[in-house]
Amino acid sequence: MREFITGLPKCELHLHVEGTLEPGLRFELARRNAVGRPYETVEQMRADYDFNDLPSFLACYYEGISVLRTEQEFYDLAMAYLRKAASENVRYAEIFFDPQAHTSRGVPFDVVIRGLRRALVDAEAGLGIGAQLIMCFLRDFQAEYAMATLLEALPYRDWIVGVGLDSDEKGNPPAKFAAVFARARQEGFMLTMHCDVDQEDSIEHIRQCIEQIGVDRIDHGVNVLEDPALVEVVRQRGLGLTVCPISNSYVTDSMKTDAIRRMLDMGLRVTINSDDPAYFPGYLQENLIAVHEALGLSREELVQLERNAFEVAWLPRHVKDAFLAELDAYAG
Ligand code: ADE
Ligand code: ZN
Repeated sequence: MREFITGLPKCELHLHVEGTLEPGLRFELARRNAVGRPYETVEQMRADYDFNDLPSFLACYYEGISVLRTEQEFYDLAMAYLRKAASENVRYAEIFFDPQAHTSRGVPFDVVIRGLRRALVDAEAGLGIGAQLIMCFLRDFQAEYAMATLLEALPYRDWIVGVGLDSDEKGNPPAKFAAVFARARQEGFMLTMHCDVDQEDSIEHIRQCIEQIGVDRIDHGVNVLEDPALVEVVRQRGLGLTVCPISNSYVTDSMKTDAIRRMLDMGLRVTINSDDPAYFPGYLQENLIAVHEALGLSREELVQLERNAFEVAWLPRHVKDAFLAELDAYAG
């Protein structure tokens, strides 16, 4: 089955590029740019990764991010991820980036997006992997800063397929960003938002996402299962849920594989993803293997998870169909 999962044409829809900053590259950049805590070795730095919930993870994640400065460094970060993804037969990835995690410490938006974009273009040409960028707003910053970031992104409109919302959810509901997401919709962006797992007011946040914001997808969203009426809306609208099992095991009490089983059985468009694999060890392949080992998924169910992902990807119909044909050919 490991071999089957490795060869499976895969689609990643929930991946923070800053969350792919592996300790080795982080250590090298920290030295080069003389930023961050002065660690003697990579192992020492890695030993400081200590988190058991979303806020403690985010503290570690932002500390890691602080080493990124130049366009070339953003390029190297994205290219390292795309190489890894291509090696696992990820055929297409939608990649989150957090511009405010950089502009807030003086790195220009233009530097960030040019580095990332150049990596995506080179990876498509050189590795044959497709990818698009999703710009996330940090929900623990003010809505006005998110709006200013959206306006700053407009000259790069063609390089960004959609917008998302991440960072600390506590006290930062979707409704806080209603005006920002309404403007993003007007500008033609696709919309998604994190509804992290087991948060305070999880159900209310999922409800706002669907009813008030009108999202096209939900990131995580596992707690929707607690509300049958909302489940029905998610099913009827065919909304994708980008679930991240290994990530869940680090910031909640489990991988939430029982929820994945129920979502699959109910015909929801659940997908498996890797979130921040440099911190929650396991890229897409390892996440699929973990779910397979927990649930004993059949080949058909593994194929269904990838079919869901390609179906809810933000791609033109004919491009999706080409990936789906590849998947069908593999499934035999
Ligand atoms: N930013 C990066 N990873 C995140 C996650 N899992 N949840 C919320 N914000 C994030
Ligand atoms: Zn995430």
